[in-house]
Amino acid sequence: MRKFIIANWKCNPVTLASAKKLFISVQKGLKNAENSQVIICPPFVYLEELLKLRKKLKLGAQDCYWQEKGAFTGEISAVMLKNLECKYVILGHSERKAQETDKLVNQKIKSALKSGLEVILCIETISQLKHRLKGISKNNIEKILIAYEPPGAISTSGGKIPSNSHIIEKLKEIKKITNTFILYGGSVDSSNIERFMKLGFNGALVGAASLKAKEFIGIVQAVEDI
Ligand code: PGA
Repeated sequence: MRKFIIANWKCNPVTLASAKKLFISVQKGLKNAENSQVIICPPFVYLEELLKLRKKLKLGAQDCYWQEKGAFTGEISAVMLKNLECKYVILGHSERKAQETDKLVNQKIKSALKSGLEVILCIETISQLKHRLKGISKNNIEKILIAYEPPGAISTSGGKIPSNSHIIEKLKEIKKITNTFILYGGSVDSSNIERFMKLGFNGALVGAASLKAKEFIGIVQAVEDI
């Protein structure tokens, strides 16, 4: 089984020096990770510098805009990321939902796929999954990594992990729509990652715990050992 561990650094850390330090520590600590793909998603402004330090880690952005270029102040397009040799992009994260409709996320997915980026699509509900995948070919849907993050499960928004039966039910529902790689997200750390892997996920999207090198390495190690 292919496994993915994705670090979502969100709006952290506040200096390039600490971003480099964290990246280097993670990369050093992951020398023996053979069975999992580890993807680090830092803030946009650190991508270029971290790409220079990259050995086996992959890099991703935390969002992108759906138009290729033009008068869109503050936006970063998928094609810009691709040209930077950034490989992945997280789209539709629940922390962006105040600014984003399902339609906008759908446009962003289409644009990212067209540019050749690998998409990590976050969803909280099955309805979001259906709406966000509208008009995307089966072939393309199969390339998308889905991160299922139950409402309220993210560490900074309460961190309540639902029961195993609830999670298994949702996983089944997602699999009816797409049989791609499905990751779990929300308060994942080195002490609970095994639980999610055993429920049948292909990996995890990790927020807070990805900011501590030792803890994040512990998650990857646990996944490697399963
Ligand atoms: P968390 O965040 O691991 O801090 O709960 C996960 C996410 O927001 O993707």
